[in-house]
Amino acid sequence: MGRVFRFISRPLLAVQDSEKAHGRSLLMLRILSSNPFTRFMLRTLYKPTHNLPIHRFGIDFEHPFGMAAGMDKRAEALRGWESIGLGFSEIGGITMLEQEGNPKPRMFRHGGDRALVNRMGFNNPGSEKVALRLKKSRKYNRKIPVWANLGKSKLTPLSEAKDDYATTLRRLWCDIDLFVINVSSPNTPGLRDLQHGDYLSSIIQECMAENLKSADMYGGKTKPLLIKIAPDLSMPELELILDVALAANIDGIVATNTTLQRPNDEDKAYKESGGCSGTPLGERSTELIHHIFKYTNGSLPIVGVGGIMSSDDAWEKIINGASLLQAYAGFVFEGPGLTKEIVNGVRRKLRDSKYASLEEAIGSSVVLN
Ligand SMILES: Cc1cc2nc3c(=O)[nH]c(=O)nc-3n(C[C@H](O)[C@H](O)[C@H](O)COP(=O)(O)O)c2cc1C
Repeated sequence: MGRVFRFISRPLLAVQDSEKAHGRSLLMLRILSSNPFTRFMLRTLYKPTHNLPIHRFGIDFEHPFGMAAGMDKRAEALRGWESIGLGFSEIGGITMLEQEGNPKPRMFRHGGDRALVNRMGFNNPGSEKVALRLKKSRKYNRKIPVWANLGKSKLTPLSEAKDDYATTLRRLWCDIDLFVINVSSPNTPGLRDLQHGDYLSSIIQECMAENLKSADMYGGKTKPLLIKIAPDLSMPELELILDVALAANIDGIVATNTTLQRPNDEDKAYKESGGCSGTPLGERSTELIHHIFKYTNGSLPIVGVGGIMSSDDAWEKIINGASLLQAYAGFVFEGPGLTKEIVNGVRRKLRDSKYASLEEAIGSSVVLN
């Protein structure tokens, strides 16, 4: 099936405008996952034959590989993601207010490098509408955890950012299993400033307070809260963020978002402004994962994302400290067969390694103090 994607679907998608191709793929997935027969077909084609279970954040995952934020900004294809065998999905970025995002075109592909450049700017229907959509999805039994990526509305000043994030968290709380506070998208002016000092701790505190209130109101436990960071931080900046996160008892880190760096400034896609992801991001994101694991002594679970295109890339992230993994560009260039390739490949690598379990392999190439 990977070959069908490589030789037929990928060339077809490559000649279309990137955002339109994305929209068509999402629509196709929605249609195919809307009836039991085609869902069965999707599962047969794409779901990994064996699991690779892992428990993190109080949640059981069938395997560690999921979909990164940005793919399903409107929570449109929830059933699709589970039908193609993902371990979890992350919807959003969702902001308190509905917004259009930046003018189009705003998403570009570099096929040769398997890279994407985007400046979407949090185009999304806003948390009120997304909450309604999630409520409707309650009529079927969800099979995989659904995470939400929280962004800040463009109109909200940085000083009020904490209320923007916390409002979205409150609206979505009942239908989401885990929240990612995204302070690292490069396409909302000033957003990355929220990674630092007082801003960051006030956002975490406000989200935690809202989390507790919702848990009290609806019953049950608070939901795990993670922070997603940028790959363009220096190591001292990263350490300051980790100090704040550890002091605030955050549950984990997602590393990383897209980068402002480019492999060169000649190729057409790289001349576009925005964040770059895919293969050129892989090494930098792994460096940050390694540093986080070392700095926190392996105490803070890391979700590794950036340039995962194969089971080799996935394994690299795992031995450097990631316990869960996500991809965006990998699905664009390798298609929906990527999950099977990664889960089967990582299982094989584990079998051929000296590690008895996935847990043992996580962070195994990091020398701790
Ligand atoms: C078109 C596009 C939109 C994205 N939107 C978001 C977003 O809303 N929130 C977020 O945290 N990350 C967003 N990302 C970043 C991805 O979640 C991921 O961190 C990044 O692409 C690196 O992974 P990859 O190399 O597998 O693509 C987006 C990426 C792309 C390509």
